Amino acid sequence: MSHVSPIRVAILGLGEHMQENLLPMLQVADGVQMVAMCCRTEEKAQRLEQRYNVRAYAGSWETCLDSIAADAIVVAGPPHLHVAVARYALLRGLHAFIEKPPAEHPSQLRELAAIEAATEARCTIFVDYNFRFGTVYRQTRAIVERYGPIQYAKLRFLTAKPRSSMWNMSLVRSYLYSVGVHPVEMALDLFGPPRCVTSGITLFANGRFALQVGLDFSRGARADLDLGNYWNKFETSTEFVTGAGILGVVKDHRDARFVGEGIANIRDESIGGKAHVEYSLPVARGGMDAAGYANAFHSFCHSVRHGTPSESPLKNSLPVLEVLERIAADCEDGVAKAGREKRGPSE
Ligand SMILES: NC(=O)c1ccc[n+]([C@@H]2O[C@H](COP(=O)([O-])OP(=O)(O)OC[C@H]3O[C@@H](n4cnc5c(N)ncnc54)[C@H](OP(=O)(O)O)[C@@H]3O)[C@@H](O)[C@H]2O)c1
Repeated sequence: MSHVSPIRVAILGLGEHMQENLLPMLQVADGVQMVAMCCRTEEKAQRLEQRYNVRAYAGSWETCLDSIAADAIVVAGPPHLHVAVARYALLRGLHAFIEKPPAEHPSQLRELAAIEAATEARCTIFVDYNFRFGTVYRQTRAIVERYGPIQYAKLRFLTAKPRSSMWNMSLVRSYLYSVGVHPVEMALDLFGPPRCVTSGITLFANGRFALQVGLDFSRGARADLDLGNYWNKFETSTEFVTGAGILGVVKDHRDARFVGEGIANIRDESIGGKAHVEYSLPVARGGMDAAGYANAFHSFCHSVRHGTPSESPLKNSLPVLEVLERIAADCEDGVAKAGREKRGPSE
């Protein structure tokens, strides 16, 4: 039996993502006690308290957090709320697990990262880029890296949404900050900040578009990103390629496939250049582990308990948001140009 005190967690931003993905994961997380939920309305607080059997407070989240004893905050709301919660947590020495995107512009993150640098030893701030923590994603990356450093990555993140603006942003920015932020962060986690960003947009009817993004890094590494909201569901794939041409592919966070001469199969027998190996890597708790929610939260809890550095601090999100802004500026130019061409030369 463990004698370590549980991490007392307060929950904020009880929308779709929190209720569908994060709360089921938090309910089974080891060494965690949910002590409060903070909602904006009394009616919702009552409903959630009954459903989850956790004390729920209505009204201002600051008043709620000021009045309870918690060690950590878990928040999944709009990005302006993430900024406010990050600042609140940093200034009070509270730990915080914050959904992506952590802010709506890099300028907000610069300020927060400066406070984070000054208080790093006091509290853990973890930005949840869950897909990078997916079990199959991490295993595939680790297997490929046994054959040498990854030199090239191709990330495909296609969705059916957003098809309308969110968070007072343009539609392109809404997509980038809600979905595109994942593959950009994954690419920067592999290779560091890029030295060159190129991007282009293809527009379709009804607010749909495809984005092609190329990121060039030092030491000749590159990532190509196929993005867009023109698909009819959420579909992802990631390819990792080493300098020697060993290839690992993760599809929809679950299936892994390996290609390359000399790569070993499960029984460590080498296969030839024309063959490929397909693994169904074991995922203990279904979607929670495959999509990385549980692993990301586990990493956060580990940093909180042992005082080790966050695996996803605010400062790491700064170059990510800077890349998003570069892509957004290029693509919004493309959207404006397409609008002018459609209207014709007389207007
Ligand atoms: N990592 C992933 O895979 C993933 C997937 C989906 C979403 N997300 C992220 O999760 C976040 C939430 O997304 P969602 O789809 O759950 O959105 P949502 O359904 O709109 O929920 C957002 C919640 O934030 C709270 N909120 C909004 N404005 C607030 C304010 N000013 N003060 C206090 N609370 C406020 C509201 O909670 P109350 O009604 O309880 O007050 C609302 O229900 C977003 O940042 C999104 O990017 C991540």
